[in-house]
Amino acid sequence: MAKLEALKADITTLKVDAIVNAANQSLLGGGGVDGAIHRKAGKGLLRECETLGGCETGDAKITGGHDLPATHVIHAVGPRWGGGHKNEPELLASCYRRSLELAQEAGCTSIAFPAISCGIYHFPPEQAVQIAVRTVIETLPSAPAVEHVIFVCFQDEMLALYQAELDAQAPPSKPA
Ligand code: APR
Repeated sequence: MAKLEALKADITTLKVDAIVNAANQSLLGGGGVDGAIHRKAGKGLLRECETLGGCETGDAKITGGHDLPATHVIHAVGPRWGGGHKNEPELLASCYRRSLELAQEAGCTSIAFPAISCGIYHFPPEQAVQIAVRTVIETLPSAPAVEHVIFVCFQDEMLALYQAELDAQAPPSKPA
């Protein structure tokens, strides 16, 4: 079983095989973590994104890391919260599934996720964190290359939510 952890950090500083970006359908940058990643990665990332032809909500596309310490950026497009009756939970789960599929294809052993859709897209954090942890745990068996998953939080509240969810869904293995 891969190691899963929650960490309070700026995702653009992490030296992992892939960081996941909470992007929009244009893949041409934005605010929030999208803006931070593009600022740190430099213009080369935007130029590469311009060749991708956008991305559907719930899907993800992979690029190089450019000036980031991470080797790859996986751009996942999360759903904007619209009340919960527009398939938002499934679209959010799909972002985590597709990101792990792309990480597996690229041979990534370590991947860091931000709290996709929990900022400008206003997805309720409690529900989003539950979906994120559950979907990653369910998908990891089909992504054997991935050995380390980091849920990166920007606020203490999010960190507490992720830590509680990880304790509930993936309790640390009891010492023998
Ligand atoms: N490192 C880690 N997490 C971050 C960082 C960072 N540098 N910056 C922001 N976050 C956190 C936010 O606090 C939030 O918890 O990432 C989470 C996702 O928030 P957003 O970046 O606002 O993403 P999202 O809610 O998915 O909205 C996506 O915002 O930036 C635009 O182009 C993007 O249109 C898209 C929309």
